[in-house]
Amino acid sequence: MQKLLVTGGAGFIGSNFVHYVLEHTDAQVTVLDKLTYAGNRASLQGLDPARFTLVVGDICDAALVDPLVAEADVVVHYAAESHNDNSLHDPRPFLDTNIIGTYTLIEAARKHGTRFHHISTDEVYGDLELDDPARFTEATPYNPSSPYSSTKAGSDLLVRAWVRSFGLQATISNCSNNYGPYQHVEKFIPRQITNVIDGVRPKLYGAGENVRDWIHANDHSSAVLTIIEKGEIGQTYLIGADGEKNNKEVVELILTHMGLPADAYDQVIDRPGHDLRYAIDSSKLRSELGWAPQFSNFEQGLADTIAWYREHEQWWRPQKDVTEAKYKVQGQ
Ligand code: NAD
Ligand code: DAU
Repeated sequence: MQKLLVTGGAGFIGSNFVHYVLEHTDAQVTVLDKLTYAGNRASLQGLDPARFTLVVGDICDAALVDPLVAEADVVVHYAAESHNDNSLHDPRPFLDTNIIGTYTLIEAARKHGTRFHHISTDEVYGDLELDDPARFTEATPYNPSSPYSSTKAGSDLLVRAWVRSFGLQATISNCSNNYGPYQHVEKFIPRQITNVIDGVRPKLYGAGENVRDWIHANDHSSAVLTIIEKGEIGQTYLIGADGEKNNKEVVELILTHMGLPADAYDQVIDRPGHDLRYAIDSSKLRSELGWAPQFSNFEQGLADTIAWYREHEQWWRPQKDVTEAKYKVQGQ
């Protein structure tokens, strides 16, 4: 039985992975999570205490991290400051957690020879033009745009350097935009769903032409487990499910699924430096490791996500007002 240390396991994607691993393997899971505004114990409720432990703490705390990494067979590193808009208003926590936190973890992993999987984003590659047929591959040069994506790029490069210089037993994955249950209401899809539930019009940045390549969080989790089980040390794998849609299309789908006219949204101030388009070519993961996404119907996945937010108001309600107050100050 493997022992997994999952950092950031109380966040959106990390908690999805913890549930997925406990359902699909016999692994023991320890989560290390600081429970920032983005972490939520309730996302980990109901897990078997014989196989799951939550340690509340900071990945930058070397004294805390060292023994946890020593006890683990594999570290799966999700913890991050993850929201672009926040990074534009206060970049410092992004440098601390995404850079120093990753450094602290890989130092412990190299000391103890622990297998390490680093979770990253397609945003490290910058953006593509709307009319460019190209998609990101593992060979695309790094060209991040925001404080968030530049700190994620920095963390990827640290992991790569530790593999080459110190023989760190690591793999990296870069995934596109995730959607599904338990996503914080600051993010695009849950923000608009919960706005509509509250009788507030969805907020589209600019003209809404920006394209994101949507993947269900369960498909991200199955891909990460596949890489941990079959991936080659030192390799990077792109994770995506061919889910390109522009933001306007997504808002229109949310509105019509929720029984409102497709144009019942507001256009608000655009995000500075807003990346135009992300698109992932995940052929390497599919052909070399045999992974395939299971959620190919975005409209069905979105409808299920809308139903989940309708049924789990107690989970998201405590975050809603404070999140909207921040956006209001920014004119968004
Ligand atoms: P999230 O913001 O929902 O969760 C982040 C978690 O990390 C929270 O539980 C938070 O408490 C924890 N955390 C933050 N700082 C910490 C610290 N210093 N020490 C310990 N824990 C800390 O983020 P998410 O959307 O679930 O993203 C998880 C990871 O996946 C990130 O590395 C992100 O870059 C990456 N990613 C996200 C997406 C996406 O669409 N959301 C896509 C690709 C990659
Ligand atoms: O591509 C992967 C990345 O996806 C992850 O690395 C990030 O952690 C994750 O937050 C996400 O980044 P984005 O910036 O793409 O996601 P966000 O949900 O913030 O916004 C999605 C798109 O919707 C983006 O083009 C901005 C737009 N948007 C966002 C909000 C919050 C709006 O139009 N209105 C909004 O209210």
